[in-house]
Amino acid sequence: MEIPLWKKCYKKNFKYFNKRKFIILIMLDIKISVIGLGYIGLPFSMILAKSGFKVNGYDVDNKKLKKLKSKKYLFEEKNLNNLIKNQKVLKNLSFTNKLKLANLYILCLPTPLNKKNNCDYQYIHKALKEISKVIKDKDKIILESTVEIGFTDKIKKILEIKKKKLKIDIYYVSEKAIPGNTLYEMIYSDRIIGSNIGNKEFISKLYKSFVKGNIFITNNKEAEATKLIENTYRDFNIGLATNLSQILKEKNVDYKKVFNLSNRHPRVNILSPSFGVGGHCIPIDPYFLENKKSGLISKIRKINNDYIDVISKKINLFIKNNESKKICFWGFGYKLNTNDTRESPPLKIYNKVRKSNCFASDFNKSLKIRNFLKSNSALKKCDLHLIFNLNDSCINRKFKNKKFVKALDLIN
Ligand SMILES: NC(=O)c1ccc[n+]([C@@H]2O[C@H](COP(=O)([O-])OP(=O)(O)OC[C@H]3O[C@@H](n4cnc5c(N)ncnc54)[C@H](O)[C@@H]3O)[C@@H](O)[C@H]2O)c1
Repeated sequence: MEIPLWKKCYKKNFKYFNKRKFIILIMLDIKISVIGLGYIGLPFSMILAKSGFKVNGYDVDNKKLKKLKSKKYLFEEKNLNNLIKNQKVLKNLSFTNKLKLANLYILCLPTPLNKKNNCDYQYIHKALKEISKVIKDKDKIILESTVEIGFTDKIKKILEIKKKKLKIDIYYVSEKAIPGNTLYEMIYSDRIIGSNIGNKEFISKLYKSFVKGNIFITNNKEAEATKLIENTYRDFNIGLATNLSQILKEKNVDYKKVFNLSNRHPRVNILSPSFGVGGHCIPIDPYFLENKKSGLISKIRKINNDYIDVISKKINLFIKNNESKKICFWGFGYKLNTNDTRESPPLKIYNKVRKSNCFASDFNKSLKIRNFLKSNSALKKCDLHLIFNLNDSCINRKFKNKKFVKALDLIN
């Protein structure tokens, strides 16, 4: 049997052993299984491995695992590509398609909406079934997926009946991650940790080992609610800016100037309007808080969804006026600096307006979309290029010999 690290050190350095070192060494002995290696789970596993923890990343996507094992996995973010090659990460992180025995299971699984606009827990339920088969007394579970308020406290019941007598600590922790800067946000953002009866010292030590922001421990429900409020706040404020800009445009008022002037007020901060919101969080999470059709959240969700129709109408007119031209649409990530097309407004718009003279291109080679052209043939074949979410460096690189005319301003 392998001798735990803390025992080896304890024997050698008895004199110098203090409580803090003891806890750190016990922590480094824990085996962590991160379940779901997506936008959150994979960088999070790497951060834990870099901090010295033994981490096993478990996913059901065999293609992704093959790339990870052969070290051919490519992130969109340079920082993450550097981190995955870090010696400590290479030493401490392994990948598998079978859940391995661990002491700590961290769930980073998708939580999309179902047809009734409730949280779809199918991925979490499947993983919990797997965990039920291997979980032992005193093991711990951390839920990092965004869920409805109260779900974390139900996990014990969901784990199979015979396991219910085991003493298992269950925590809720959420991440903040912006495309292009995921690593920074995971390390420097404050963490709100939900812990009902769990070991608070353990959970705070675990996150303190890599988080440079502050750590706040509260109960599971409050931690779940905090995550939902953060994304609802973003949804509301983007929707508000978009709606206000439309009202001002109808009245022939320069909304940009008015927003700037309004933001001179010390307690006002109006955001920029946008052509809808996308991704796995903002268009989904507010419904976890409340999904009544008559509720304010549904109304704001509708503003952000409807704006996709406003933009589509503008583009339809543009296509009609350019019937003889071949038009290529670019940049389908839900926002700048990401290939993530989940709930992506550009993708929804393209699918709404697409005619036979319309094509799509992107530097994301795995994009499955009608009339897709590789970037070089799109540049050769098409006469007009409509750019959604491509960052400036990408535009400068690929379109360097093209003449730019702002033929259609989607927002203004
Ligand atoms: N993406 C973000 O910026 C972000 C930010 C904060 C919170 N979140 C939340 O984190 C959670 C995960 O989001 P994500 O964007 O990382 O999702 P993702 O879709 O990128 O990744 C999920 C991964 O889980 C895997 N998976 C699915 N079922 C599985 C199973 N039964 N066992 C093992 N692996 C399985 C998938 O193959 C995939 O690789 C969601 O609840 C999301 O709302 C996401």
